Amino acid sequence: MLAIRSQFSNHFNDSPALVVKSPGRINLIGEHTDYNHGFVLPAAIDKFIEVAIGKRTDGAIHMVALDLGETIILPIDNLRPHTTQWVNYIIGVVDQVLTNTEIPTLVNETKLAAGFNICVQGNIPLGAGLSSSAALECAVLFAINELYQLSLTKMEMALMAQTAEHKFAGVQCGPMDMFASLHGQKNKAILLDCDSLAFTYYPIELKDYSIVLFDTQIKHALATSEYNTRRLECEQGLKIIQEKYGSVKTFRDVSLEQVEECLGSIIHLINHNVEDKNILDSRIKVYQRCKYVVEEIERVQLAVQDLAKGDMQAFGKKMFQTHEGLSKLYEVSCPELDFLVNEVTPNKNVLGARMMGGGFGGCTINIIKKTAVEEITKELSAKYNQAMHKELTIYSTSIEEGTHLVL
Ligand code: GLA
Repeated sequence: MLAIRSQFSNHFNDSPALVVKSPGRINLIGEHTDYNHGFVLPAAIDKFIEVAIGKRTDGAIHMVALDLGETIILPIDNLRPHTTQWVNYIIGVVDQVLTNTEIPTLVNETKLAAGFNICVQGNIPLGAGLSSSAALECAVLFAINELYQLSLTKMEMALMAQTAEHKFAGVQCGPMDMFASLHGQKNKAILLDCDSLAFTYYPIELKDYSIVLFDTQIKHALATSEYNTRRLECEQGLKIIQEKYGSVKTFRDVSLEQVEECLGSIIHLINHNVEDKNILDSRIKVYQRCKYVVEEIERVQLAVQDLAKGDMQAFGKKMFQTHEGLSKLYEVSCPELDFLVNEVTPNKNVLGARMMGGGFGGCTINIIKKTAVEEITKELSAKYNQAMHKELTIYSTSIEEGTHLVL
């Protein structure tokens, strides 16, 4: 990649005021739990989005995506979701700065209305489930925060970026990706309590093992709609449980017994005169989703205990269990992801493997003995190619610092 400062100067005939780097993320365990008030264990990685920004005075935003060779210019007032998705990640957070009324330091904020120039580039593979979109949102917001001295905290920025994703990109995501991109620390994973938003850093010392990502090179089109449907199904299940147990506020208060009792039994449905096959089917799905969520919330809490004890064998087993749940109960996997996990499961040099992120494509995350990585990746690539007629892409990642200024 060419230095972003000189690219900015070439485009705008001016030096950028500042440059910000924001990383993608992996997630060790805790999938589809962030919007269900559970726990997640992500970490920022060595793949990033970089933005260079400078002020304008004419109320316009000039956006250049260097990797795509695209430029889009928009007036900053009256921002609406755009047909070009990368643009939405930028204007979504700009809209948050201009319209968010919940953050006191933003009330009466008008300086940003003068507009800005921005260049974007990065090396996070798109559609791989490594949160390139969150990295872009966080990079832009962090840059605006610095440029206009808005005094936003990282957590405020994470939540603003999450809202931007809901409003401008149409994904009803949880806070994990933005949180991880902003809060990352070198060689540490972060346990985020998605209910209280409290978080704890856990050193990741894998010694003889390394984290390897296998990219299916697939992104199924239904990823967004199915993601939003999962969220609704969980909300539906929670509501049914709450009807019986008034004290339940979120999935954090729900036990597996309650899931079984309120959602598990078909008899229960028949007792409530539910005879329609479609309704029965959708109720079974709601049961499966909630069962997975409650199990996964518990699993993450146990997994961090494994991590604290340095018991990576036990940790890895839980990753396999998570995959099983995501595939069979939550139904967000796909044949390609299942193939990659199933192939490595019997291998003693693989401590754990599972699909990562929203699902329906993207990567699996694997903990593999360093000395075996080469052989495993070689074999798996050949098998994947034969079975799926696709090239497998392999990323070995390191855990790095979160969003920061590039001096
Ligand atoms: C996507 C979303 C996250 C999270 C994961 C699944 O990455 O953006 O908020 O829900 O899927 O864990």
